[in-house]
Amino acid sequence: MIQMTRVAITDTTLRDGHQSLIATRMRTRDMLPIAEKLDCAGFFSLEVWGGATFDVCIRFLNEDPWDRLRSLKDAITETPLQMLLRGQNLVGYRHYPDDVVTKFVEKSAENGIDIFRVFDAVNDIRNMEVPIKTAKKTGAHVQGTICYTISPVHTIETFVAFASELASLDCDSICIKDMAGLITPHTAYDLVKALKKDIGLPVNLHSHSTSGMASMSYMAACEAGVNILDTAISPFAGGASQPPTETIVAGLSGTPYETGIDLVLLNEIKKYFDGVKENYMGILDPVSEKIDTSVLIHQIPGGMLSNLISQLKEQDAMDRYDDVLQEMPKVREDLGYPPLVTPTSQIVGTQAVLNVLMGERYKVIPREVRDYVRGIYGRPPAPIAEWLLSKVLGDDVAVTCRPADLLDSELEMRTKEAEELGIVKKEEDILTYALYPQIAPKFLKGEAEEEKLSAGEVSAHAPHAHAGIFNRFRVVVDGEAFHVEVEPTGEMAAIIKENKSSSADVEGGIASNMHGMILGLKVAKGDAVAKGDVVAVIEAMKMENNLHAPHSGIVREIFVSEGGAVGTGDIIMSVY
Ligand code: CO
Repeated sequence: MIQMTRVAITDTTLRDGHQSLIATRMRTRDMLPIAEKLDCAGFFSLEVWGGATFDVCIRFLNEDPWDRLRSLKDAITETPLQMLLRGQNLVGYRHYPDDVVTKFVEKSAENGIDIFRVFDAVNDIRNMEVPIKTAKKTGAHVQGTICYTISPVHTIETFVAFASELASLDCDSICIKDMAGLITPHTAYDLVKALKKDIGLPVNLHSHSTSGMASMSYMAACEAGVNILDTAISPFAGGASQPPTETIVAGLSGTPYETGIDLVLLNEIKKYFDGVKENYMGILDPVSEKIDTSVLIHQIPGGMLSNLISQLKEQDAMDRYDDVLQEMPKVREDLGYPPLVTPTSQIVGTQAVLNVLMGERYKVIPREVRDYVRGIYGRPPAPIAEWLLSKVLGDDVAVTCRPADLLDSELEMRTKEAEELGIVKKEEDILTYALYPQIAPKFLKGEAEEEKLSAGEVSAHAPHAHAGIFNRFRVVVDGEAFHVEVEPTGEMAAIIKENKSSSADVEGGIASNMHGMILGLKVAKGDAVAKGDVVAVIEAMKMENNLHAPHSGIVREIFVSEGGAVGTGDIIMSVY
């Protein structure tokens, strides 16, 4: 008799599937009608929460992410619900202190998460310890995750060594997260085989169809003994998303890797999602549905490329595209070969663009890159180039401790602030606020509006609720899609601006060099300012950019306030 090695399926339609193809915009009302059928299909789990869903719910959908989780939990009673957790970053873009992390994980479990898939962008176990231990305490299944990437320092051995660190934290299974869809069948086989042999935990392969290899790699992983594969129902599969559930189920049928899932039921589910997809055609970028084989050559995930193109177009510098492509792997090498996933993909990409446009490498280094070099994001896979380290650190020393050890507790302060704002109706609201203090108040006060679904509303030059007029783009970063407003980053734009003459009408006017939001004003009326001083910090593309004074003088007038939106060329103050 044949030894049956059943393979289990995690369906990602309600998280990664729509995150990869329609910028995470699927509404809860489109999920609930099919929840019961999804529950009956016999999936190992349904990935329904985490990643970008939390942010998008409150920022664009006027939906409470906690309500979504609870409604799904009510409707899905048999199949475990799974979330993607960015380690100490939770569902945000920075490290949160331990008290916030602990409370968030506890509340996620309480509201219905059964399986936590926990990862860290640089595979630094220290950024995963607290969320993993907390999730274990809740009784949840914890999937320790390896961010898969290709570099001279990433080998089967180093991945297995990392997996054994995950196993020592009592993870229940190991996930290979191939966010760029780069894993080849051969490597998938070797890696799964090695993990099965040396670690002994169940192994889950998560890949994206970006390069077109994922289905083959899934088959090879099956042959190596993989236990779980991630797929999405076909209308939300392929391209930047996972391979299609129906295809994988059918393809494995009658083999030792039989999934046991009913294709007829899957077809009913597929028809339902065909209808749902119609609602979102206006925001579906055809590029994201395509296979992009160029990723096989330059290994830069599709999302990073579209981001790059947008940045270069904004700067009228598309002629430097090839130069930036050449520069990207060099920067990644300088930075110790981080896997390219949020937030390291932005860090590497922006620095590469700056290096090319400035005409001198590392002439300008944004704050996030400095922080990365200082060790704030954790330990890079390989040492950072010595000369870059000394350039950034100067006389400082790098951070060698667990980065979150440097963070003060925030929960008490955030609770107090949220209560003062009158936005706390349930305990979870405090967490929503602690994670997104800038955007949560508006949402929690009931002042946010659901983004419209028609194409016109989300196309270029659509007004943005928070920060003026933007070019909106759908960007897939390492297989995970975000809607972003693309604008020049500060220092890059500042230098470019220096080369183009400013035509300000205001005496001593200092103009904003980008579209963005005033995060902070560093000077007040009456202050003396020297040329080169930072006068304001502007948030753009999730990075903080310093605006430097182009000339010296006294601050005569300030025309903007913190939190306000600015456009390129807007005069924000006069200094003379
Ligand atoms: Co993914």
